[in-house]
Amino acid sequence: MTFFVSFALLYSVCVLTITYNTIASITSAPPSAANVCTLHKSFPPGFVAQGDFVIGGIFPLHYNQEMPDINSTYRPPPVKCNGFDPRAFRWAQTMRLAVKEINLRTELLPNYTLGYKIFDSCAYPLTGQRAALAVLNGLSEDNSPMCSGASPLLAVIGESGSAQSIVVSRILQPFRIPMISYFSSCACFSDRRKFPTFFRVIPNDDYQVKAIAQLLVRFNWTWVGLVRGDHEYGRFAVQGLMRELQGTKVCVAYQEMIPLLYNRQRALEIIQVMRRSLAKVVVVFSAEGEMTPFLDDYMMQNITGTQWVASEAWVTASVFTGSEYYPYMGGTIGFGIRKGHIPRLSDYLQTVNPQMYPDNLLVKELWEALYGCSPSLSSGSQLPPCSGQESLLEQHSAYMNTSSPRVAYNVYKAVYAIAHSLHNLLLCQPGSGPFQNNSCASSNNIQPWQLQYYLEEVTFNIDGEEVNFDLKGDSIPYYDIINWQRGTDGNIEFVHVGLFDGTKPSGEELVIQEDSIIWAGHQSEVPQSVCSASCYPGSRKAVRRGEPVCCFDCVPCDGGKISNQTNSIECTFCPEDFWSNKDRTACIPKKVEFLAYDSLGIALTVTSVVGACLTIAVFAVFFYHRNTAIVRVNNSELSFFILFALTLCFLCSLVFIGEPTSWSCMLRHTAFSITFSLCLSCILGKTLVVLAAFTAARPGDNIMKWLGPKQQRVIIFSCTQVQVVVCAVWLIDAPPFPSRNTQYEHSKIILECSVGSSIAFWCVLGYIGLQACLCFVLAFLARKLPGNFNEAKFITFSMLIFCAVWLAFIPAYISSPGNYADAVESFAILASSFGLLFCLFSPKCYIILLKPEKNTKQHLMAKDKK
Ligand code: TRP
Repeated sequence: MTFFVSFALLYSVCVLTITYNTIASITSAPPSAANVCTLHKSFPPGFVAQGDFVIGGIFPLHYNQEMPDINSTYRPPPVKCNGFDPRAFRWAQTMRLAVKEINLRTELLPNYTLGYKIFDSCAYPLTGQRAALAVLNGLSEDNSPMCSGASPLLAVIGESGSAQSIVVSRILQPFRIPMISYFSSCACFSDRRKFPTFFRVIPNDDYQVKAIAQLLVRFNWTWVGLVRGDHEYGRFAVQGLMRELQGTKVCVAYQEMIPLLYNRQRALEIIQVMRRSLAKVVVVFSAEGEMTPFLDDYMMQNITGTQWVASEAWVTASVFTGSEYYPYMGGTIGFGIRKGHIPRLSDYLQTVNPQMYPDNLLVKELWEALYGCSPSLSSGSQLPPCSGQESLLEQHSAYMNTSSPRVAYNVYKAVYAIAHSLHNLLLCQPGSGPFQNNSCASSNNIQPWQLQYYLEEVTFNIDGEEVNFDLKGDSIPYYDIINWQRGTDGNIEFVHVGLFDGTKPSGEELVIQEDSIIWAGHQSEVPQSVCSASCYPGSRKAVRRGEPVCCFDCVPCDGGKISNQTNSIECTFCPEDFWSNKDRTACIPKKVEFLAYDSLGIALTVTSVVGACLTIAVFAVFFYHRNTAIVRVNNSELSFFILFALTLCFLCSLVFIGEPTSWSCMLRHTAFSITFSLCLSCILGKTLVVLAAFTAARPGDNIMKWLGPKQQRVIIFSCTQVQVVVCAVWLIDAPPFPSRNTQYEHSKIILECSVGSSIAFWCVLGYIGLQACLCFVLAFLARKLPGNFNEAKFITFSMLIFCAVWLAFIPAYISSPGNYADAVESFAILASSFGLLFCLFSPKCYIILLKPEKNTKQHLMAKDKK
């Protein structure tokens, strides 16, 4: 124990030099008198009770304190704590009740009594440190166990805030005194090397941030604000939450810190940030201490619509239950620590009154806080004197709210944990103990580290709940989900709407009764908190440069790509032969197009049939009048040939209409080229005859002998034969075939005939062109020849039209897509056929049918008068 004492004294000196307001210290006595301690000043506990084993309790019985004066030239004045906290007072009373209960019980710690010393930390680390030292010291030098060499106490229950607990734990560590915190949830305590004697009956915040992250994800709140107090709890919780949110769809819009020393200017800045942000959901890691002034300023700014997510530290704080808070704070949701049932708590709390504790300052302050009156006249208080009739009723909720104790229940569990450990320690059988050489702790000199061993091992049941500590001193992670709803009296009620059980397999931890939640602004619909509204199917997200991933634009998918989910990151390609629909939400089979019997197809069909009929009609007229002069003069056999070829020409345009098959493809160009070739050959023949007939009239010419009907047929046949051979080679070598063109228009499949060999195709066309040009040149030469009915004129004309049509055809054909190319070709065939038909035959028909008097050999042979 001498080691113990010197350590304690040394420690006190260190602390003293730093803080000035430490109450335990040593005099500057010479080393020989080192075992004589004097306390400079006493720091009276809130409550004390003697017992065989004493446990300490540290509670934040005040919200805050006046900042100490750290001018080290004089002895610092006593700390002034402000704002009595009835809630923490209730916790302290719960500790007293638990000790009292245990002392009355016969099966737990029989023959021994527990004592306690309860101190106020004023919710401030520095004062918490003072309280910790005061716990270690006695009330005065005489009864200070520290000075007499005995172990000062076995364990400490405390503190509330993590910041204070850290300080308390550091002070208790050298003495290896275990502490059990009832409210310090900071994840930082899990480091067993830094806090070897720390235990707690509240879950580690690692679980809470996990739960909050799951809640944010669950309700699709992807753009949230974080506000915290300036303490370890806030710092670690925000850090943890950020870690948990990594890799989720939730982004943090802003992070703000309420300063430790409340500063209105700074608070207004934070409120401004909140007001401007799109993040309607704000997660707050803080406690009543800083939340109260902050919320007052917040409400003054008249901002509504914020959906608060409260941390366990303030989600069940009864200070905020007043009806004035509802418009601003109603709908708040958060994770509260597990509640329990303490049967005699309500009765016990009611026993506290100024009559029973006339000298207790805390009870006096409680009365002042609850009734606004001063119970003792002696104090210099400005409040009116109390009547003495005041009674503690449920209405004084801040103190008497015992319906669902949470922190108080933790305090209760902590005391029982110590009692059960002590009990187990005392049950130890000498020779089979856990310590060196199987020894046990001796009951009249229990070392705190020996109790720590039993604390680590303890498990017991309380109110049906199993209590124990894991290797890090943490307890079972379990939270209630609390929602702030309006009660019947207009005040805020904490409604249980779900739970988070950290022991369940991941994904099943969170259970929420969504229907029973009332959201901010008294809404039953889940509020939105997003940076950008979600992208509908058919579009995809496009992140904005330099902004978080939650802020994005929606860009519609390109043609041929789709997205069928909201908030797609990418649009996916449709499979081949499929194309996106108009909304870009599904792939639909591509439209197959070809020159079908639609309006265009029908028009072409009709035209070609009409053309063919007309040709046949002309044929009929010619045949009927085959003996008249005009028919005979103009080489009737060739005329019939031409008419026959023209009929075929008209008809072959039909092959271009309808779905292309391998047969129709092969037929298309070949049929057309051969019939045209035939037609042009006939016309060529005719031109030659005309030319010959007139030039033969000149003396010495015997040309007509070479152009008899037989020779004419040979010329026609051989001219056509060239085309037939070309076509045959084409069909054998690389025949045209039907093909699906997906290149021209991506959304359609165009069924067309691929020419197979484009050389062949252009050869065939070229041959026709050649024939036409030849015809033209010859006819042009013959156009001036005499005779009333010079056919050469009309042939020139017809060839002009023919060539014009086909020259126009080439660019139109090349630039038209599949089915239109067919239409263009079909049209060119029809146009040129009509051209030929009209130019060659209409003048003759005119004479045959309307001017039969001119249909005589004389008339026709007569030389032009002009
Ligand atoms: N769980 C909190 C903590 O560990 C609870 C708390 C109590 C608190 N008192 C506080 C948080 C004061 C901030 C300030 O600290």
